[in-house]
Amino acid sequence: MNTAPPSILPAPTAATRPTAATHLEIEPSVLYFGTPVVLLSTENQDGSFNLAPISSAWALGRTVVIGLGREGQTAYNLGSRPGLVINLPAPDQWPAVERLAPLTGRNPVPSGKPEGCRFEPDKFAAAGMTGEPSHLVRPPRVAGCPIQLEARAERVRPDVSGEFVIVEAAVCKVHADSRIVVPGTNHIDPAAWSPLIYNFRHYFGLGPELGHSYRTRTPRGSEGPGARADA
Ligand SMILES: Cc1cc2nc3c(=O)[nH]c(=O)nc-3n(C[C@H](O)[C@H](O)[C@H](O)COP(=O)(O)O)c2cc1C
Repeated sequence: MNTAPPSILPAPTAATRPTAATHLEIEPSVLYFGTPVVLLSTENQDGSFNLAPISSAWALGRTVVIGLGREGQTAYNLGSRPGLVINLPAPDQWPAVERLAPLTGRNPVPSGKPEGCRFEPDKFAAAGMTGEPSHLVRPPRVAGCPIQLEARAERVRPDVSGEFVIVEAAVCKVHADSRIVVPGTNHIDPAAWSPLIYNFRHYFGLGPELGHSYRTRTPRGSEGPGARADA
């Protein structure tokens, strides 16, 4: 329930009040409506490590739910070796993410992969990224990613379509670049951190802050309503 005083919330405008007449019925090829990109590092069967960009990931408490193509190397790895790192790149790292886009760690390349997809055994090198040791799991963290979540896949199961698997990963350690942490606290500073957003197959950062939740623990102060969001 939102208990914020109504007076601090901006009134709806014409732009935020669409009418039925503004909508078309369409059949978009994807429904990637703008979620953060994560880079998943996982362990291959031979003890080497795979790295894959994923945008179907979201947090529920300390659990991160991840959607993966069932034929990909990442799904294959997590079915047998549960350790992973969920690395969150910053917006300016999008070229490295895109270098990984046409690559799979699966050999031979599964038939369901898009045209042009090729096997790459060393995706860290292909992306121009470096691994750094994790503390609790075997796959490395991606150096330079401002947030790195060490985790274990506790449940891996098929989705309803049969094309994907749904992974529920329990986060066991959080690493955050000191520049995005509110000094002396455990809070991420939302004014300092920006995720890389995958928005209908295009990359974006965040725009300026619009407001904050009534539950924020890191209020900006007296600059007015919505000056800083929750960590
Ligand atoms: C920005 C971005 C987001 C992606 N999101 C997903 C995703 O959420 N789930 C998925 O299975 N593949 C996603 N992909 C495609 C995988 O990265 C791709 O299938 C890759 O080959 C997987 O590598 P792997 O086979 O080594 O696991 C995404 C690709 C990019 C570039």
